Amino acid sequence: MKNVILFGPPGAGKGTQAERILKERDMFHMSTGDAFREAVSKGTETGRLAKEYMNRGELVPDEVVVKIVEEKIAGIDGAKGVLFDGFPRTVGQAEALDPVVDKLGRSLDSVINIKVGDEEVIGRLEGRRMCRNCNRIFHASWNPPKQKGVCDDCGGEIYQRDDDKREVIMQRLETYNGQTKPVLEYYGKKGILKEVNGVAKPDEVAKEILAIL
Ligand code: AP5
Repeated sequence: MKNVILFGPPGAGKGTQAERILKERDMFHMSTGDAFREAVSKGTETGRLAKEYMNRGELVPDEVVVKIVEEKIAGIDGAKGVLFDGFPRTVGQAEALDPVVDKLGRSLDSVINIKVGDEEVIGRLEGRRMCRNCNRIFHASWNPPKQKGVCDDCGGEIYQRDDDKREVIMQRLETYNGQTKPVLEYYGKKGILKEVNGVAKPDEVAKEILAIL
């Protein structure tokens, strides 16, 4: 049972790689972004709060994020690994995760940093489209759904995220550089940080990640 963190700037391909890893490994996908989007679509209190931060390209407060993660992973079969995606993204969240995994008898095996530059990220996010039902990720130019507006997998509606507008993307990058990047040093000191080149075909990036796992 491996517990792994997929790390990287917005648009690095964390969700795209998680889809591929989960086809090869029986792991629980803990995406905080997906969890918040689900809460937003259900109209819960957490969703209402998270939406304000997400639409500004800012981070949801640590205590809200940690609580949602703790609740979601507490009930997972101990034999099943957890694939963290988009969490932790502050040093405070990383510090809060340590006792949570300890309490569950788990340990963190690797933090995989998917390296991609800012210009690439902007092009990816402006063109990103997602399925409202199953969260499958597409790109309007280089990976569009076969039928316009319809998900290839589940027939769900394809949409563009509110935070994939240029001004919000720029803010998300700033947030990443200021608040999230320091997490790399935290895990570097623990000796579990690995890096992969994210500017390659998604299947090639996946191969590199699976070799690490
Ligand atoms: P979240 O949903 O986690 O967004 P993010 O980290 O900004 O990451 P993205 O989902 O934008 O990108 P990704 O790396 O998954 O890339 P993807 O695979 O989609 O978080 C959203 C918001 O929620 C945050 O801004 C914050 O407000 C809040 N939040 C979430 N977690 C939080 C936390 N822990 N703490 C506080 N707040 C939190 O790919 C992008 C595009 O590129 C796609 O179109 C894809 O097809 C394409 N692509 C992917 N890989 C490749 C490739 N190799 N080559 C070419 N194109 C590619």
